[in-house]
Amino acid sequence: MITGIIGAMDIEVKELISSMADVKKETVSGIDFYRGRLKGKDLVVARCGIGKVYAAVCAQTMILKYEPDLIINTGVAGSLSNELNIGDIVISDGVVQHDYDASPIGIPAGMIAGIDLIKIPCNEELVKKIVKAAQILKDTRVARGTVASGDQFVCCNEKKDTITNTFDALCVEMEGGAIGQVCYINNVDFCIIRAMSDKADGSAHMDFDAFVDIAVERTILIIKNFLAEL
Ligand code: ADE
Repeated sequence: MITGIIGAMDIEVKELISSMADVKKETVSGIDFYRGRLKGKDLVVARCGIGKVYAAVCAQTMILKYEPDLIINTGVAGSLSNELNIGDIVISDGVVQHDYDASPIGIPAGMIAGIDLIKIPCNEELVKKIVKAAQILKDTRVARGTVASGDQFVCCNEKKDTITNTFDALCVEMEGGAIGQVCYINNVDFCIIRAMSDKADGSAHMDFDAFVDIAVERTILIIKNFLAEL
């Protein structure tokens, strides 16, 4: 059993990589993959870079090269919900791509042609295990629901409201939708764990810098607990 973990930025995966034993690093298409063990479990961890194309290249390469049984996308996100504050956690039950829009040719906004889905579902058993693992965080709100992805750092209320109203999503980020789509077409289970670093509003860029570290710490705790219980 091999677990794949993908984060966009160094900060989102570096603590995991430094905690791993028997680490072997390989670079493919400029993406570093770290194969090793953590909590006695086989793991491959990669930092993909920011955005959906890097995320898709990373997920597809990981699947072909390391054959993970499941992939977890971890990192930070902008909260779209008034009930989710900075530091709170979202665990995906599915992911949408808010910037995928072929509606002028008759495909509903957000629907991914070919697989004909707007929301790509996560594996229910995996979601449940990750929600359980997140109980390790005390005094932190953990919500499960839709994650929205797109090639855009959302930092204005107008865009935030459009995504929230169209997709009923809890948070917005830039990679999960691509990883979800790649996993779906390869029949690999996936889930997204995101800690809120900002509220996707006019202060998002400043909040991101101020809170990214504390947010990341929480996702790493969940992943370590998940692996321990696997
Ligand atoms: N990742 C963290 N905050 C984000 C935001 N506001 N928009 C997109 N991705 C993010």
